[in-house]
Amino acid sequence: MSKRILAVEELMVSFDGFKALDIAYFELEEKELRVVIGPNGAGKTTFMDVLCGKTKPQTGTAMMDGRDLVKMNEQQIVELGVGRKFQTPSVFGSLSVFDNLLLAFKTDRKVWRSLFYTLTPPAKARIEEVAETVGLKDALPMQAAYLSHGQKQWLEIGMLILQDPKLLLIDEPAAGMTDEETAKTGRLLLELANKHSIIVIEHDMEFVKQLARKVTVLCEGKILTEGPIEKVQEDPQVIERYLGRSHGTRAEKAVALAGSGSHG
Ligand SMILES: Nc1ncnc2c1ncn2[C@@H]1O[C@H](COP(=O)(O)OP(=O)(O)OP(=O)(O)O)[C@@H](O)[C@H]1O
Ligand SMILES: [Mg+2]
Repeated sequence: MSKRILAVEELMVSFDGFKALDIAYFELEEKELRVVIGPNGAGKTTFMDVLCGKTKPQTGTAMMDGRDLVKMNEQQIVELGVGRKFQTPSVFGSLSVFDNLLLAFKTDRKVWRSLFYTLTPPAKARIEEVAETVGLKDALPMQAAYLSHGQKQWLEIGMLILQDPKLLLIDEPAAGMTDEETAKTGRLLLELANKHSIIVIEHDMEFVKQLARKVTVLCEGKILTEGPIEKVQEDPQVIERYLGRSHGTRAEKAVALAGSGSHG
């Protein structure tokens, strides 16, 4: 039997009277990898903002390890073991991949001090191990500014996992990635799910299918349905309110983009 790591109840966020999020119930098991999908503005990012303490809801609870995340500040939530990755990577371009990882490792220290730290062999080994996991071992001496977009995303995921979070929140990791990078990111998340619980937001249906895990569909702040992707995909409500719209497969998106004359 798996253990539950997160239980969310009656969670409501409103911005000036507009209900951005209205989740009756959501739960996540230990070492579960859950994919959250849904149209633009569905409240996906807002959900993560609440779980990491960035946004405070009007009502509701989000229980993890007997603590209510809603009542904690961002730092306390990090200390409890929640790691958040935002949509755009924020690595230090002027530093090497190794030093970026080192900074993440020494979160309790000021930046300038940690750079001059003498590393213990286990610490160095751990950084190398994480670099290997995220596919950046050969890139360790490289200046982060020269990494590809995909590599920067992986570096940021590496920085997160060095803090050993129990729960990882990852917002659209495959956005802007090539097909190959997307596939690699999928494999990485599946590997990380052996050690961490993960909630990942994603629009790319090929990626969602590759992960092949339980999917939660958010729409207008509410959970529309949950289940395996094959089931969710056939749900008439999901087709009507999400899949039938702009976010289909990568190929469909490309066609839509070409049609609109945009190359974003
Ligand atoms: N700080 C804020 N102030 C006011 N409205 C906000 C704020 N943050 C989000 N919203 C609104 O809440 C709704 C949900 O936004 P959110 O960013 O969570 O959607 P999303 O599902 O992540 O969308 P996307 O797929 O485009 O990333 C949107 O209508 C958005 O405009
Ligand atoms: Mg979002």
